[in-house]
Amino acid sequence: MIGQLNAIEQEALAALRAVEAGDALENWRVAYLGKKSPLMTILGDLRALSREERPAVGKRGNEVKNALEAAFAERVEAIRREELQHSLTAGALDVTLPGRPIPHGRLHPHTLILREMYSIWAEMGFQVYRARDVETDEFNFELLNIPQHHPARDMWDTFYTTTPGVILRTHTSPGQIHAMREYCPQPIRVILPGMCYRYEQISASKGIQFLQMEGLAVGKNIRLGDLLGTMSEFNRRIFGPERKSRFRASYFPFTEPSVEVDVSCANCGGSGCNVCKHTGWLEIAGAGMVHPIVLKNGGYDPAVYSGFAFGLGPERIAMLKWGISDIRYFWSNDLRFLEQF
Ligand code: PHE
Repeated sequence: MIGQLNAIEQEALAALRAVEAGDALENWRVAYLGKKSPLMTILGDLRALSREERPAVGKRGNEVKNALEAAFAERVEAIRREELQHSLTAGALDVTLPGRPIPHGRLHPHTLILREMYSIWAEMGFQVYRARDVETDEFNFELLNIPQHHPARDMWDTFYTTTPGVILRTHTSPGQIHAMREYCPQPIRVILPGMCYRYEQISASKGIQFLQMEGLAVGKNIRLGDLLGTMSEFNRRIFGPERKSRFRASYFPFTEPSVEVDVSCANCGGSGCNVCKHTGWLEIAGAGMVHPIVLKNGGYDPAVYSGFAFGLGPERIAMLKWGISDIRYFWSNDLRFLEQF
């Protein structure tokens, strides 16, 4: 029996030396120290031996067991060290190499131009008022003094929905009525930014979906001079202090009188180039004094209150400021375009 134990010990230690990897180790443990291993079978069955044999076999058996356990622990540690060493050398990485640059997201030119405009208008006391994109015919036209069948409706090619009377707003002007009805009879100074929708032929300068920024000031003693001064100041702040402003008589059903606002061409300084089509001027807004009927529709007594309104095209301003030649770039999602901002 003792000889058998010695043989087990020798075989086991020899087998252990041959073990190379973690899973083979476990197989070895099961084979030589597991419940059903020959060693454990002998140790578990000592009672079957004679009284004389029992102490010696038990002692030797335990010695072998301890020896194997110690050898096993040592081998486990050795293999772990080897594997660590291997992974350190084989998968070596040069921590001094520069990292890969993480691409930065950036703001869309729509966001950039809106933020710049917000801050200019905020400095002049205008706060942002949000109005809805989906409008009714009543707000988009009728309350703005554009009755059904009025020929001025031709100025806005409209997207209609399947619900009668519900349309996509063709301009931000219906927001004037919402703002007036909310604030009446207090004085108002708001800008209304947002998307507008027109059934247009898409081109380099026209989209079917585009930004507008409406402005509205209502109060007592607001005059045309206030509108002209405000627009001139905006032009200087957004395009530079050298910029001059020009106002041309125009027509909108919801303003009287109405003007078109031009700014002297930033590209040529007013001497004429292909950006301004050799006129020296660029059109940037429609504007005017709020029509008495519109004031009344907003809840204000036109005998007491007056106001001015304007409608700016943020994309157009961005195109002029940053030399963008085609309005379709704004929606093209072309990184070569977007990464320039
Ligand atoms: N709503 C007009 C348009 O889209 C612009 C405008 C706004 C004109 C406010 C006058 C006053 O053409």
